[in-house]
Amino acid sequence: MKTKYFFLSVLAMTTLLVVGFNAQAAQAPLKEVKSAKGNVSGANVFNRLLKKDAQRNAAPAEDGIHDSANDGTHVLQPPLIAYDGLPTSEFGNYVDWVKSLDDGLLKPRYDLSDPTVEPLVMDLDIVREVKASMPDVVFPHKPHTQWLHCSNCHPKIFIPQRKANVMSMSAILLGQKCGVCHGKVSFPVTTKSCTKCHSKPKPADWKPPKSEASLKNPWR
Ligand code: HEC
Ligand code: HEC
Ligand code: HEC
Repeated sequence: MKTKYFFLSVLAMTTLLVVGFNAQAAQAPLKEVKSAKGNVSGANVFNRLLKKDAQRNAAPAEDGIHDSANDGTHVLQPPLIAYDGLPTSEFGNYVDWVKSLDDGLLKPRYDLSDPTVEPLVMDLDIVREVKASMPDVVFPHKPHTQWLHCSNCHPKIFIPQRKANVMSMSAILLGQKCGVCHGKVSFPVTTKSCTKCHSKPKPADWKPPKSEASLKNPWR
């Protein structure tokens, strides 16, 4: 009898051990997945385009950009007060700056020393045909030159000649080309802002361009 109980209890213990071990084994890959995810977001915390704001338009002392120990920081008007009444957008600092200017709600000073200088506005749209199925990009000079002098872009960021510049989304997301400003001082690339730049629908007869491989092997 005793040996039977002993045998049974050993069996129960082994079962517990095996079940316990299996439970641990089943949990292990889950844990790995979790930590891998942690690493990915950890690697991207420096990327302002991927980081989610803790608070929309925090006051200068709390925004992580200004020095809160400096008295001057506390003299600055908090954005939530400064932006009150301006038309809103769904991204960036949630203000539609182009519309604010068009509606006459803002009048940016163009010259530091002379308040009477008027901006040199140029109304010229540049269409950049996008090879992928996304709508084509329209670069409008007007909303840019209302704020910015030509020398902000020409010739250092863009050669002033249509199609002379090579642009791509990767370059923009790395802070080059349009990304020198967009995502930093002007509206960022987000899933909601694509159509601001990609604003010209593809022609009805548009077909994806053939790859180099299929052009080299036309018999296929
Ligand atoms: C925000 C950046 C920016 C500013 C500011 C800017 N441009 Fe441009 N400009 C561009 C881009 C982008 C292109 C297109 C280049 C391309 O297609 O490769 C362009 C193209 C041009 C072209 C070539 C047009 C053509 O048909 O070939 C001229 C000329 C030009 N700009 C003049 C100006 C002048 C003058 C000003 C100031 C009044 C100005 N730009 C301000 C970005 C800018
Ligand atoms: C030198 C800085 C700078 C560069 C470079 C720049 N932009 Fe802008 N862009 C601005 C600013 C500032 C505004 C106006 C403020 C805002 O809308 O955030 C603006 C506004 C715009 C608008 C108008 C959006 C509207 O509401 O009508 C479009 C479209 C745009 N940019 C596209 C582009 C594209 C495409 C490129 C690259 C070819 C580019 N920008 C390069 C600074 C820049
Ligand atoms: C600030 C302006 C801007 C915004 C915002 C933007 N794009 Fe672009 N995109 C461009 C420009 C400029 C090009 C290059 C066009 C060319 O070939 O001249 C481009 C090219 C592309 C291409 C073609 C492949 C490549 O990298 O050249 C794809 C796909 C694309 N964009 C998708 C998107 C998507 C999706 C979004 C929104 C998440 C987006 N874009 C937002 C300006 C913008």
